[in-house]
Amino acid sequence: MKVLNFGSLNIDYVYGVDHFVKKGETISSRSLHVYSGGKGLNQSVALAKAGADVYHAGAIGKDGMFLIDVLKEAGADTTNILIQDEPRTGNAIIQNDVSGDNCILLFGGANRSIKKEYIDTVLNGFEKGDYLILQNEINNNAYIIEEAHKKGMIIILNPSPLDEEVKELPLEYVDYFLLNEVEAAGLSGLDPNDLEAQQKLLHVLHEKFKNAGILITLGEKGSIYSDGNKTIKQEAIKVKAVDTTAAGDTFTGYFVEGLVRGEDMYITMNRASIAAAIAVTGKGAAPSIPGREEVEERI
Ligand code: RIB
Repeated sequence: MKVLNFGSLNIDYVYGVDHFVKKGETISSRSLHVYSGGKGLNQSVALAKAGADVYHAGAIGKDGMFLIDVLKEAGADTTNILIQDEPRTGNAIIQNDVSGDNCILLFGGANRSIKKEYIDTVLNGFEKGDYLILQNEINNNAYIIEEAHKKGMIIILNPSPLDEEVKELPLEYVDYFLLNEVEAAGLSGLDPNDLEAQQKLLHVLHEKFKNAGILITLGEKGSIYSDGNKTIKQEAIKVKAVDTTAAGDTFTGYFVEGLVRGEDMYITMNRASIAAAIAVTGKGAAPSIPGREEVEERI
């Protein structure tokens, strides 16, 4: 089965800092590294490394050609990627602190120049039963979801970063939601700080999205998946974090690969969790995503 990832491609400028810069403050960074990134690209790299037949669609400027090489090297198909004269490739300013945490400022650039004609052309290459995965860093996601639904594609949404626009998408067509706690709370309308409400999260989400599978990653508490009938819990793997960037994307890529293959859900979640744990021990987004062999060795 083919997996189409219609998603962002970013150049990540990663600054090593002692602490995140505060309002009105100027600080010096310890280092600057330039990496390939973007939630879309990272997830395609993870999908391809996990072994999925993944096709990446999205747009870059001429300054982002190396991102195509990164995807190709991982094993993803890049023939659909649009290279624009203007605007430039999307980028992210990432502060990476001493504990490995990050904060990210995005510039959409070419990621926000996705036109309907281009979407139609890309979708022509896919058919009923193929998978579509989307994040929330490109424009025209609503149109992509509607057209993919008409074709009978299976739609997976990782609405990250969550904003108000996500709630306007035709979410009733989504077959699988891949969420972190904040996104899950945002979509459900429950208070993320209310512990009791957290217990109700899955229930409320299933009420809203009746036929969808819902995965929630819970950080140090692992992850939980429910198809509405049965719920599967998986414990987190503890490691010392160097850089948490793209840990979620790594989980997503490995999770979707298992989902597409119809593998036992617990085994899929466990493998995705190990892949994400390895990713946080390396620097950068896409460069830290481990290959299948390394992940299998740790199982
Ligand atoms: O999820 C990590 C990614 O978020 C980074 O690579 C950055 O580009 C942003 O899209």
